Formats: sequence, C-alpha cells, structure tokens
Amino acid sequence: MKRTLGVCYYPEHWPEDQWTSDAAQMVATGLTWVRIGEFGWSRMEPTPGNFTWDWLDRAIAVLGDAGLKVILGTPTATPPRWMVDKHPDMLAVDAEDRPRKFGSRRHYDFSHLGYREECRRIAEIMGQRYGKNPHVLAWQIDNEYDCHDTTLSYSDAARTGFQDWLAQRYQSCDALNRAWGNVFWSMEYDSFDQIDLPNLTVTEPNHPHQLAFRRYSSDQVVAFNKAQADALRKYTSAPLIHNYMGRIMTFDHWKVGADLDVASWDSYPIGFLSDRLEGTPAFKQAFLRQGHPDNQAFHHDLYRAVGKTRLWVMEQQPGPVNWAPYNPAPLPGMARLWAWEAFAHGAETVCYFRWRQAPFAQEQMHAGLLRPDSAPAPALAEARKVADEIETLAEVGTAQAQAALVLDYESAWAWDAQPQGADFEMFRLAFAAYCAMRRAGLNIDILPPDAGDLSAYKLVMAPGIMKLSDPLRQALAAFKGIALVGPRTDTKTDELSIPSPLGPNLSGADVTISLTESMPPDDAVPLQGGGQFVHWFEHLEGDAEVFVTTASGQPAVMGSANLRYLAGWPDPATFDQIIADVCTESSLTAHSLPDGLRIRDTATHRFVFNYADHPQDWQGTEIPAAGVHWETL
Ligand code: GAL
Repeated sequence: MKRTLGVCYYPEHWPEDQWTSDAAQMVATGLTWVRIGEFGWSRMEPTPGNFTWDWLDRAIAVLGDAGLKVILGTPTATPPRWMVDKHPDMLAVDAEDRPRKFGSRRHYDFSHLGYREECRRIAEIMGQRYGKNPHVLAWQIDNEYDCHDTTLSYSDAARTGFQDWLAQRYQSCDALNRAWGNVFWSMEYDSFDQIDLPNLTVTEPNHPHQLAFRRYSSDQVVAFNKAQADALRKYTSAPLIHNYMGRIMTFDHWKVGADLDVASWDSYPIGFLSDRLEGTPAFKQAFLRQGHPDNQAFHHDLYRAVGKTRLWVMEQQPGPVNWAPYNPAPLPGMARLWAWEAFAHGAETVCYFRWRQAPFAQEQMHAGLLRPDSAPAPALAEARKVADEIETLAEVGTAQAQAALVLDYESAWAWDAQPQGADFEMFRLAFAAYCAMRRAGLNIDILPPDAGDLSAYKLVMAPGIMKLSDPLRQALAAFKGIALVGPRTDTKTDELSIPSPLGPNLSGADVTISLTESMPPDDAVPLQGGGQFVHWFEHLEGDAEVFVTTASGQPAVMGSANLRYLAGWPDPATFDQIIADVCTESSLTAHSLPDGLRIRDTATHRFVFNYADHPQDWQGTEIPAAGVHWETL
C-alpha cells in the first residue's frame, strides 16, 4: 500500500472564496487526505434541530473535486452553547466537585446519557447525509478522548451510572463488601445507592473502590464511542477512526479500538518532551527541537496494535505548538523525519496539523503548514519532500517484530490508586522497558494483556501487570523465548488485594515476593556486577534459578529459562545491560545505539533516524542532524 500524507483543515475558519485555492495548494503539496468538521457543531446545527449543512456540502465538494479524500469528523468534542442550556447537567465535575464550564472544548460528561444520545443523533444524521458521499472516505469520531483530563467526572450522572454498574458487576452488596474488604474501617454498604464516587474522602478512598470507578469511567468512554460507531456503520463502509493521544492511560484503548477500524494518534514530539515526559535537564536540552527519540515509536507501536494493524497519524506537529510551557521550533528536517518514522512503523497516513495557522482564538500561536498570512511555513516544503519520497519508495511493509511489550490499562488504574511509591506509574515503567528494547535496535510489538500467542517473539516483557490474564499466563507457560515479567507483575487479585498464594504465580518457576520496597529518587539497590534498581524493589524467595543478584546477594532476576521475574525497576543503563544479556542468550542482535540514533526494520528496508542535533555515524554512513536514511535489507 502506498503511504499518504494529509492535513487538518477548518473550512469554517476561512472565507469560502479561499477554499478552492487552499485545496489546489494542498494537492500541489502532494497531500492526499484532508480532515475536516470535528469542531464544527455550532455551524452544523446553530440551534437545536436546525441544520445548516450547505457550507459543509460545499466544502466537501470543493476539496473532493480538487482530488482530495475527506476524513469527516463528528463534532462531539465541542457541543455548542445551546446544548449546555438544554442539558445543564452535562458538564463534567472535577474531583473537587466543581462543574467545568463552557468556553473551550470537551465540556461534557461521558456518563451523561442525554448528551450521549445527542452525539449518537448527530452522528446518525451525518452518516445519513455523507455516508455515501464519494469524497468522504474516512470518519473520525469525536476528538482526543481524555484531552484536558476529561475521562473522570464526579457528577450526579456519573454517580448514578456508577451505582448501576456496581450492581451489575457485584450483584449484591455483600459480594461487593467482601471483594473490596469493606470490613476494614467499617466501610460496609447495605445498598448500592449508598455508594458514592471516590472523591473528597477524608483520607484515601479504598483502592478497589477507586479501581472500580476507573473501570466504570473507561467503560463510559467505550460506550460513548460505540454509540457513534454503531450509528455511522448503518450508512458508511468507510473506516471509522479515533485520534488517540500520547501517554493517556485513563481509558482502555484496546476496548475502544475493538469498535473501530483504524487507530490514529496525534503526535506532538516537541510539546511532549517539554510537557509530558520525564528526562534530565541535559536530555531535554539535547532533544528540545526534535522530541524524545522513543516516544513517537512507542505510540506508533501501541496504536498499530490498538488498530489491529491499521495505524494513522491524524495530527503531526508542523512547528511550534501553543500548549507546552515552552514552545521551540523543530529543527529543520524533523517534520520529515517524524513522517518517515511513522511510515516505518506501519502508519498508512500522516496528516499534519494544521493547514494554516489561525490568527484568532486559543491556538493562534500554533504553527501550521502555512503562516496566518498564507505564506509557506517551514514544514510545507518538508511535507512536499516526503510526498516526493513516497513516490520513490512506495511500499515498505511491516516486518515481524522480535520483541514484545505487554501493556495493560487496568494496571495503570490500579497503581494510580495504590502507587506505594511516589514515582511508580504504569506509563513510566512500560516506557522505560520499551526504550531499553529500542536502544538495542529491536523491532517491538505492543500487546494487550490478554495476548494468547507469543510464539512469534524471542523476547517478551510484561512489567507492572497487576494480574496475569489466563491467556497470557498460558502463553507465557508455553513460551520458547525469554519472558521478563515484573516488577509488580501478578501481585494482585482482580480486586486489587494480595492473592493467596502470594504472587507472582508463574508456571514452572518457584518465585514468591516476600517483601516490597519503594525508594525515593536518590536511593537505589545496587546490583552485583554493576547497575541498580530505582523506585522499586521486591524481595524474592523460592527455589527457582537466580540469574542476577543484588550487590547484597538477593535475587534480582529469578525464574526458569523461559520465564523470569524482574524484582525491581532498572535504571536505563541497567535495563540496557539486562536486554543485551537476554538478546545474547536468545541469539538476537542487540545494538547499542548512540543517543538519538534509532533504527526500525520494515519488510524491505532498514530505516535509520537521527534525532540528534549533530551528524552521527551509522555503520560508516554519516546521518545528518534530523536526518533519515534507509537501506534495503
Ligand atoms: C490536539 C487537538 C487539536 C489541537 C492540537 C494542538 O490535541 O486534537 O485540536 O488542539 O492538539 O496541538
């Protein structure tokens, strides 16, 4: 399949007589797709039930007639003002019990069934109108679930919905009390309508109560998305897509993805490095204008799996954004590098956000491919270059990955409820494991927690999985490569209690956690032969083989030949050493890539990406700063 480029466009922001020349210039830039509509509700339905589709009809016609393929968004992330008058209780409520206000976007509560029905209705009407339109060849549902912290709401609608959900899950209050251990601190309930949302308690609410609320809240996102997907499917066979974000763990993307055809995500590498990722000041300085060298790849690998192999980048950073604490411009070349990196990870399409920088409203400082005065911004020429390169390198395919990482959203909620150590967070742990495998130059798949077949891989990592699912447990038992599970894997029941027998309960490996420690940032557990665990250390006992020990002689990696428990959170250099050793054992070639140089193999090519701001050598070839190089395999 030929890879394609696209752009996000807001016809409602520009005079209509500009649309034709915009469309022509998009085509001249080599763009194939144009995403429109996702924030346009106030112009589609200015008053309840009064629709004004004429402008959207014309916009689709102009873009389509120019040769562009349209991705049409449902506008449900931006309910118009009248909607709030109609459903005053549709606003989400924060953990301090304060309703969030109208005046930006995403001002809705996933639990509000009246608003969910409004969204189903607008999706249905749009499906009827545009489902067979020859130019509308993909759909985006809503925009960035959870953006601006919008998954959790402590509203009346959420409380009622939560109580119903609990009644269905537990059937009786006795069962719930037992599952949650509510005898502790006399927290027992007699009826489901006594159970409140887990906010504003005097000290921490019971962990299973929090976990249940997180499960409930994720289910509302799934149901909200499905209501629109079901409505659209009646009228269109075009792919249904959502644009996920980076580092969002608040809802189960595997479950949302099951109802869609493609997973896309919005990639803002520079904003992310400054705002959302850990890193020393020196690291952040080194990659200030390029982004974290592994963050994009991680999310490409994740969403390729969420999309059941179909991945898009729906929004790609083109220049400075407006929303991070500091917003530097990308190094020349990065808008090209990011696109090729996405393609090398299986993306079918990369859409730049946005066509022209808006001179008004919240994002007026956010760059586009064009400046506000319509002159080209620096990324336009880079997009053109990528479009030309696609023509010369049409098919790159996806290679079978050698390594896999299991990622579980429920575990993220469990550890949010019960961190036990201030730095223990699921994304951080999973990302640390991922980065180590990527620094070793491995191709990586990310797998859901119920993965039942690991036979394609030589190395599997499953850190922080609170309870192994039955399929994964069986797959690990049958695994012929080397699986490294832990820290904190298989240490809880489904209800976030300590299991009996104590975890982890690994097939064929007698390993038990006898004591768990968390550590502040300036403390560590040194390992024999060098390296250290940070944040977290589990004391292990049992008869299984010990592969690595701490400096004081305690097991650090322990288990069977194929299934080993990692007792702590290795720092980056230690992770590298552990991965290198495992690669040697499993006859995988492990590279030791220099800072910022990363590789990715496709079915036909090896791609080399240089995230550094200086040239670097790749096996005798100099890769320029922000450069991309490919060679046939
Ligand atoms: C995304 C969002 C876009 C725009 C963009 C700015 O999160 O989907 O609508 O706000 O960020 O970087």
